[in-house]
Amino acid sequence: MEKIIFDCDTGHDDAIAIAMAAGLKDEIEIVGIIASMGNSPLENTLRNTLNVAEAVGLECPVFRGSENPLVRQRVAAGDFHGESGLDGVSFPPRKRQECMGNGILWAIDTVMSHPGEITFVSVGPYTDLALCIKAEPGFAKALKKIVLMGGSMGRGNATPSAEFNIFADPEAAEIVYSSGAEIVAMGLDVTTKVTLTEEIHDRIRNMKDSGYKKLLLDQLAFYIRSNLTHNGSMPNMHDPCTIAYLADPGMFTLERHQVHVETKGELTYGRTVTGPVDETAPVSFGTDCDTERFWRLFFRSVGNLK
Ligand code: RIB
Ligand code: CA
Repeated sequence: MEKIIFDCDTGHDDAIAIAMAAGLKDEIEIVGIIASMGNSPLENTLRNTLNVAEAVGLECPVFRGSENPLVRQRVAAGDFHGESGLDGVSFPPRKRQECMGNGILWAIDTVMSHPGEITFVSVGPYTDLALCIKAEPGFAKALKKIVLMGGSMGRGNATPSAEFNIFADPEAAEIVYSSGAEIVAMGLDVTTKVTLTEEIHDRIRNMKDSGYKKLLLDQLAFYIRSNLTHNGSMPNMHDPCTIAYLADPGMFTLERHQVHVETKGELTYGRTVTGPVDETAPVSFGTDCDTERFWRLFFRSVGNLK
């Protein structure tokens, strides 16, 4: 059983990752979720996270995380995920509320009282994770590992140089990559190879009916349109790659690299700069994925949801 703390900036692909984890509850235990600013402001991402967690039957605590990056001005979210940060989905009135208390302090307490047991998964800006690492010197070493969505050994998507999660808080990312923890990074090099094609969309339409199937189709209707409008392509499964890695790591090809983040450049701010392949390096970057295996896992996981 993989025990995880899931840190997200719930937009559409974060929501799919949460659902996949919920559908794999015999393999992945979400100890708690921390919602962070990123795709949209914290009040949106916290509300979206609570709504999705309730919709997929998760009972773990959901905490409020960082409202702003460590140093830079918060990145304007834009309309990629819509005004709510998860446009296309209308949720019923929600019963559950955020867990009161500071998500960063809760994460530090949880990890330090379970050394070596918990994996920190971050699929939004790494601000919360960086604050844990800086506030508690033993935190990085007490983690089982870190699994990230973010970065790129090639072009970015927020700018030509930077992938969004890094661009949203480059200083936090540098703290994480330099923490000494064992890191698996699902960057654009691999996540852009996992695309929700029209064939997959048809397979989702043909799934047995469930409350989650309707939610998924509603959110995809918006998300596919947004991707086609902004990128001219179908959506990539960026954040879900982290959950797929936890459930079936063998579907991914990884390369170990030293990684640092450009925090001084004007045009290159937020670029992840990787050294040559280095088997002693702490960061394993995804380079390829057996997408048949990914989608088999996807349908198995969401097929378990009501
Ligand atoms: O670059 C993709 C990442 O940025 C994903 O985590 C997506 O949710 C956005 O946060
Ligand atoms: Ca995200």
